[in-house]
Amino acid sequence: INIPQFRDDLINWFEEEQRDLPWRKNQDPYRVWVSEIMLQQTKVETVIPYFQRFISNFPTIEALASADEQEVLKSWEGLGYYSRIRNLQSAVKEVVEKYDAKIPEDPDKFGNLKGVGPYTTGAVLSIAYDMPEPAVDGNVMRVLSRILVIQEDIAKAKTRKIFEQAVRQLISHNNPSAFNQGLMELGALICTPRNPSCLLCPVQEHCIAYKKGIEKTLPVKTKK
Ligand code: ADE
Repeated sequence: INIPQFRDDLINWFEEEQRDLPWRKNQDPYRVWVSEIMLQQTKVETVIPYFQRFISNFPTIEALASADEQEVLKSWEGLGYYSRIRNLQSAVKEVVEKYDAKIPEDPDKFGNLKGVGPYTTGAVLSIAYDMPEPAVDGNVMRVLSRILVIQEDIAKAKTRKIFEQAVRQLISHNNPSAFNQGLMELGALICTPRNPSCLLCPVQEHCIAYKKGIEKTLPVKTKK
């Protein structure tokens, strides 16, 4: 795989074809963080109106940190997985107190906040601060398992690290945000779990699984 050309093709496609989503209006790290937490267990179409309402109710990190917990829970009602919002408000309070309300750029500092795992760390730091950090979730594992023919079982916890290493080799240092979001968008729009749209894929020529005709056998996923 020709890495510079792969990056270019992915980023150019993302810049042209990305969906117009409310959390893509700017790179405010607080908004990116809220969106990534909402998107972890909830579909994009469901998240959109919740995100809009949540941000108008709590437009800044300080607003969320000082908000009444019941009011915050009310804004989350219907999204489910309520530990997400409890953790988020607790983490936001820690950012206000410990980091003067500035979301840390250091992956270790940000990643130590409540509810912030490796995926959230990479997603927020790459999208908001353009840091070349991997943001590997199930969608990104599916896309990369096909492009690179990685046959590790994605149901196993330790497999994520293998994909993170792959992203570290591939990621554009000029535009980490578009690179990572391009992988996510490709997984959402083209490189779907069943019947991927390989004929429309902007990186088809880089895809080893497509070349071998084995894209439908990937990713490998046991029940566990
Ligand atoms: N899924 C996870 N993160 C996303 C994002 N930033 N945009 C669209 N879908 C996503």
